[in-house]
Amino acid sequence: MKRTNNGTILITAPGGGIGKEITRKLLEDDFKVIGLGGKGSQNFVNELKGKGHNIDFINCDYYTKDSMLDAISQAKKLTEKINGFIHLAGGSLISKPIDEISFDEYQSVMSLNLDSAFLLGRETYKWMKKTGGGNIVLFGSTTGFRPSLKKLPYGVAKAGIHAMTGFFAKEGSEYNIITNTIAPGYVLTERHVQDIEKKAEKTGQSYDSLLEKINSKNPLKQTLLPKDIYQLVKLLITTKHIQGQIIKIDSGQILS
Ligand SMILES: NC(=O)c1ccc[n+]([C@@H]2O[C@H](COP(=O)([O-])OP(=O)(O)OC[C@H]3O[C@@H](n4cnc5c(N)ncnc54)[C@H](OP(=O)(O)O)[C@@H]3O)[C@@H](O)[C@H]2O)c1
Repeated sequence: MKRTNNGTILITAPGGGIGKEITRKLLEDDFKVIGLGGKGSQNFVNELKGKGHNIDFINCDYYTKDSMLDAISQAKKLTEKINGFIHLAGGSLISKPIDEISFDEYQSVMSLNLDSAFLLGRETYKWMKKTGGGNIVLFGSTTGFRPSLKKLPYGVAKAGIHAMTGFFAKEGSEYNIITNTIAPGYVLTERHVQDIEKKAEKTGQSYDSLLEKINSKNPLKQTLLPKDIYQLVKLLITTKHIQGQIIKIDSGQILS
């Protein structure tokens, strides 16, 4: 297998729903990839490494400060410089009305989404500052712009990431550090496919009719797939000119 290198990209959750596609495509585009994450991501990375791909894995618990700091220290042993950091780890975790959300549940969603973005973002920022700059890509959500029922902690955490983007971009400009955030609408990941399949079985409706209902929520009536997210990731991980933006990719969902 050829081993060219268009740069080294550090990515969290390479084995997640969107992460798998992003990671495969980064490798196809000849980036060296260092994945951080949990067991699921580790298995996925090992599979790719076993096939000869230019990828390494470092264990990282997004809920534990020391684990995240240690993961970055280990990454520094693998490479002197990273060209990009993509932070995909996150999720809504709970779906509850406000009066049923416990404080622990609220904090757990904040930790996974917002605190990890700050801590890993800050560490990669420090690293990039010493090594001539780089590109940071965070993941927000349209839920961070528009409240949806039963998703308060997730929406607040993602709105925090949207706000954080501007701070990283403004201060980072002096050091050639570019930070942008991708805010997707509903992306049809493997997990969402399984959810639809379960619902189809439970309600007797067909998979296609359920997907059509989901698609009808965006004006383009389209299905957004993880591969569609990669086009934007590639732009933002290499751009020298887009700075401090939160870019929605949602087939216009937020307009409807
Ligand atoms: N899919 C969508 O429709 C959608 C829409 C808008 C925004 N987003 C955002 O895009 C990013 C990727 O989305 P995705 O659908 O690919 O997410 P996902 O596969 O559900 O989860 C991404 C990763 O987050 C980590 N994670 C999730 N739940 C966890 C938990 N309870 N404990 C510890 N780690 C946990 C895992 O990382 P490891 O594998 O490393 O353990 C997982 O692979 C997320 O930030 C998400 O909020 C997604």
